[in-house]
Amino acid sequence: MISERAKSLKPSPTLALAAKAKELAALGHDVISLSVGEPDWDTFECAKRAGIEAIQKGFSKYTPANGIVELRKAIAAQTSKDLGLNFTPDEVTVSTGGKFVIFSALQMVLDPGDEVIIPAPYWVSYPVMVELAGGKAKIAVCDETVNFKLTPEILRNSITPKTKVLILNSPSNPTGLAYTREELAALAKVLTDFPKVLILSDDIYNRLFFAAPLAPHILHVAPELRPRTLVMNGASKTYAMTGWRVGWALGPLEWVKAMSNYQSQSVSQAATMSQWATIRAIEDGASELRTSLGELKTRRDRGLEMLRAIPGMSVSTPDGAFYFWPNVRAFLGRQFQGATLNTASDFSNALLNTQKVAVVPGIEFGLEGYVRLSFALKEQRMAQAFERIRLFVSQIT
Ligand SMILES: Cc1ncc(COP(=O)(O)O)c(C=O)c1O
Repeated sequence: MISERAKSLKPSPTLALAAKAKELAALGHDVISLSVGEPDWDTFECAKRAGIEAIQKGFSKYTPANGIVELRKAIAAQTSKDLGLNFTPDEVTVSTGGKFVIFSALQMVLDPGDEVIIPAPYWVSYPVMVELAGGKAKIAVCDETVNFKLTPEILRNSITPKTKVLILNSPSNPTGLAYTREELAALAKVLTDFPKVLILSDDIYNRLFFAAPLAPHILHVAPELRPRTLVMNGASKTYAMTGWRVGWALGPLEWVKAMSNYQSQSVSQAATMSQWATIRAIEDGASELRTSLGELKTRRDRGLEMLRAIPGMSVSTPDGAFYFWPNVRAFLGRQFQGATLNTASDFSNALLNTQKVAVVPGIEFGLEGYVRLSFALKEQRMAQAFERIRLFVSQIT
């Protein structure tokens, strides 16, 4: 019955894993899920109040497809300040979460066969979205030797006459690593040799950054790339608003307008009350953000200490977001309860089945030999999970 396109569509593996963990929990097991990509704290108070107020005031009807002008103004003002550039509300489009923003951005620029460079490890949805838009995902493997980040050499070698878009995501899901200004400048230098390549900068974790209020951005160091860069962000991670579904993009008018048109013929608009709530989050969320970041940093430091105390486990220090990306290669090819753990997926399955801890195998992000652990959960619970992981690996022979 279903189309060829539908047949090739895989469900999101992170959501599938979360579902399996929930299933085990429903059977009465004490499951600790380190697999989800969302904050465990509640939506910021200022946003919650604004959402309720919006409903009470009757802001519950259609809005323009690209979002209410008040929100586009707030986004333009915030991003202009962040990047030291001037964006107008016309250059903003708001949609139903960052995921759909990226989806529609790709739909609007890819012709059949166009290539999109995706540095691996990558966020799980990029390659699928590229393929759904008729493009070709060109995976640029960035392994541990390059600290999981795209280098000028890898970038140059990945570009072909068919390259249409480069996706950058910093801090990264799944590694939590962020590019430095110097690294971005080196990438920008390569891009100046290829003026037709568009840049999609996924900044969804740019405020969940530990060393400064904002992660470095390619437009900080190469503002000349602005005419071909789409800056994408959203309310989900920064303001703990994953369920409100608000994401946005700013960039070249032609690209942004096409996305708004696409949206007007598909999902229409982000929920009206969510849009009003997001304005308050953007304008008044700073102090709540400081609190949640402080908490996240404590968990990161404590989590690192615990992970590094597990013999055989190595992990780099995430600069932002809420993920650890430990190397589990030391455990592969070895035995656990009579079976060989050949891959990080075997490792994850055995861990879930025996210790009831859910983690995502690295292959889902395009790199074998790693797992992704979220530390967006209470410190005590995280400590309990890491103790279970320690127990699990101690039984690998
Ligand atoms: C790297 C990255 N980009 C974009 C998104 C989209 O988030 P949302 O659709 O909730 O805005 C996510 C969410 O997991 C993400 O991890």
